[in-house]
Amino acid sequence: MIPLCIPNISGNEGAYLAECVASTFVSTVGPFVDRFEAATAQATGGAWAVATSSGTTALHTALHFLGVGPGDHVIIPSLTFIATANAVAHCHATPIILDVDADSWGMDAGLLQVLLNDHCQRDAKGVLRYTATGGAIKVVMPVFAMGLPADMDAIVSLAKAYGLAVVADVAAAVGAQYQGKDLAHTGADLTALSFNGNKLVTAGGGGALVGAAPADGAKIKHLTATARLGAGYDHDIVGFNYRMTNLQAAVGVAQLERLDEFLQAKARIAQTYASAFGDTAGLLPFPALPDRTGSHWLSGIFAPDASLAQMENLRSSLIENGVEARSFWKPIHLQQPYLACPRHLSGLSDALWQRIQPLPCSTQLTQSDQMRVIDLVNRAFR
Ligand SMILES: Cc1ncc(COP(=O)(O)O)c(C=O)c1O
Repeated sequence: MIPLCIPNISGNEGAYLAECVASTFVSTVGPFVDRFEAATAQATGGAWAVATSSGTTALHTALHFLGVGPGDHVIIPSLTFIATANAVAHCHATPIILDVDADSWGMDAGLLQVLLNDHCQRDAKGVLRYTATGGAIKVVMPVFAMGLPADMDAIVSLAKAYGLAVVADVAAAVGAQYQGKDLAHTGADLTALSFNGNKLVTAGGGGALVGAAPADGAKIKHLTATARLGAGYDHDIVGFNYRMTNLQAAVGVAQLERLDEFLQAKARIAQTYASAFGDTAGLLPFPALPDRTGSHWLSGIFAPDASLAQMENLRSSLIENGVEARSFWKPIHLQQPYLACPRHLSGLSDALWQRIQPLPCSTQLTQSDQMRVIDLVNRAFR
């Protein structure tokens, strides 16, 4: 079976794990956690990085830190993994779901403008409220779909004009750049990453928050680490136990040592698919934009004119021929827990999601395996 996207664990992971075991530092304290945070800050240009137990807990921490609570709203894009919406729900807040744009598959800034202009008003205390529910809007949370930055200039300037914070869910985008700027400098107040097993860089499981404002780092670390004061059992606020373990961090450090190599492999795989299907009518590569460098977390094809039966046929043919294939994110507004959430849709994510086919793109994918995949796709669409 040619896998879709598996981790590449052939560096120092084993040696570093052995160090953890030998030292007995296997839990949430240990030198690898500090090293992982320093390496993550460096990879993202952050003034600081706080390692967390997952990308979801990083997002939840960010929203809680920014004061999102019961009855509030957070604006999210429709095309994302369920964790983006779940982090909002974990704050007892409700997502407002916006459709995505065709260029980046990230939050549609035009729809954001209409939402803020036409569907919100300020109350007597100056709080921006969503007119239909009366809930306060607190945060805008763009997602970097497939590791490609969203339209951050437009999104951030709208958010700032309306006094809203921005949390960027860049789960799979480590190494990406927006207008030449690293991830911590796209204008978001806080930026959340995932180091889950299927990501470009994994820690086995885990996440991180990064930021450009130095003061936030210590407060966020405190919040994720039970808000403990010193070595005793004094806690000054209700904190989370969302820390990453030294074991996870050891794997993450070994992976981050190879970030450039992984990014190059992913870019090469994406480029090979893009050139291979360039002349095949009706098949497009995943979005790429001249002012952004994506991480190419996933690459594959988008077949805007294909029927759903053709897409199903493609998946069956890949699977029958030993190539792992599954459909992509079902939009949030179609997910059972979020069916009642406010939404402002253009119809794009509805049209997109079943016509996106991620193709094998592990960093260790061989050229001959990639050629086999290309041949199978071409035959399915011939
Ligand atoms: C866009 C997005 N947000 C959030 C997450 C959540 O990360 P995790 O699985 O580490 O909780 C993921 C990944 O799985 C993701 O793809």
